[in-house]
Amino acid sequence: SDVTLSGTAAEPAPQTLPLTRPNPFDPPPGLTAPAGEPRIRRMTFADGHLGWLATGHTTARAILADPRFSPRPELNHPPMGRAEKPKDVTPSGFFLLMDPPDHTRYRKLLTGQFTVRRMRQLEDRISEIITERLDAMAAAGPPSDLVRDFALPVPSLVICELLGVPYSDRAGFRRDTEQLIDFELPEQQVTAALDRLTGYLQELVARKRAEPADDLISSLAADPTLSDREIAGMATLLLIAGHETTANMLALGTLVLLTDPALRAAAADPATINTTVEELLRYLSVVYVLVRTAVTDVEIEGQLVRAGETVTLHLGAANRDPERFTDADRPGAAAGRPGHLAFGHGIHQCLGQQLARVELRLAFPALLRRFPGLRLAAPPEEVPVRTRAVIHGLHRLPVTW
Ligand code: HEM
Repeated sequence: SDVTLSGTAAEPAPQTLPLTRPNPFDPPPGLTAPAGEPRIRRMTFADGHLGWLATGHTTARAILADPRFSPRPELNHPPMGRAEKPKDVTPSGFFLLMDPPDHTRYRKLLTGQFTVRRMRQLEDRISEIITERLDAMAAAGPPSDLVRDFALPVPSLVICELLGVPYSDRAGFRRDTEQLIDFELPEQQVTAALDRLTGYLQELVARKRAEPADDLISSLAADPTLSDREIAGMATLLLIAGHETTANMLALGTLVLLTDPALRAAAADPATINTTVEELLRYLSVVYVLVRTAVTDVEIEGQLVRAGETVTLHLGAANRDPERFTDADRPGAAAGRPGHLAFGHGIHQCLGQQLARVELRLAFPALLRRFPGLRLAAPPEEVPVRTRAVIHGLHRLPVTW
């Protein structure tokens, strides 16, 4: 097959990653390759590295399933934001950034805790948490900032309870996570936030060893083969992943529902809530970029990705790929058509996806049922959108009823 030798003098300087969104829902324009062109192309990274940008659905899926690509931070270049890398070493136990066999060992210790069956068992408790937040909103009366009053507290309370992290400590871990996902913050501050968060969780692990409770950290602490640092690293990953992602899906998802009557009706209907949640996951792709580096030369769709070159996988674009989804930019267009990549793919595919689904499937209908008159309290273009976070979302969502 033909292999393109890239980086020749005749080629124009490849573009950096487009980041400016035309509105809160759509990815930046210009990502989708014209029909017939490769859906992987050259991209300049924040540190000047000449790597690649993959925007096709099939392309992204193939790379995520390919063991010749690694997520290890010491190999990766930053696709956007600061030129320096936050940390060159993976924190102990932080298996999102590991290859097998390390990744396999840590993930296996957790899979039993995140099965569909285990999440079903949590449903009643999650419903209670949702009802309590809605009661509090109703008691306070309109208007409300839905991020502060609902979208953030629900997943925070759920993951805290699952892990055994005191919710009353949220001010600290909330600030640290916000800094960790901010790609424009200076490196020193990101490292400091990560050290604070793992330090906090390491102290908690020590306490759980002394006084075990019925929670995930306690059950990990009962495993004599795991060190406190490893458990703290695993817990750090779960705490970050467990509330930032779902919170932003709830906030952005509600904004979609408030601006789209057909989808709103589908989200309020038990018969269509599941497909509606999947469609919102596809349409919004809150985790919009993943990064992998080739550990050996790999040919992808006729392009030669050399060992050491980093690929940015744009999940936002892949989930709007017109070759995969008909009328992909319309919310609701792919309802009932599975196969979105919002939870990733391959061995790192989201461990918490069943938990996230349960939360979203319960939260949207409960919110819409409790406040049938729910509407925006500001013009849509004035809702503050996050622009410098690796997880797409909203700062605030002013609503009234
Ligand atoms: C991994 C998205 C909720 C825990 C991932 C990945 C994506 C993702 C795209 C793959 C990352 C990669 O390949 O580099 C989401 C979205 C969520 C969500 C969109 C909500 C709507 C959660 C929740 C948890 C969680 C609630 C709770 C514990 C994890 C963990 C990983 C992960 C532990 C790493 C898995 C591994 O490396 O094997 N998530 N996630 N996620 N997610 Fe989620």
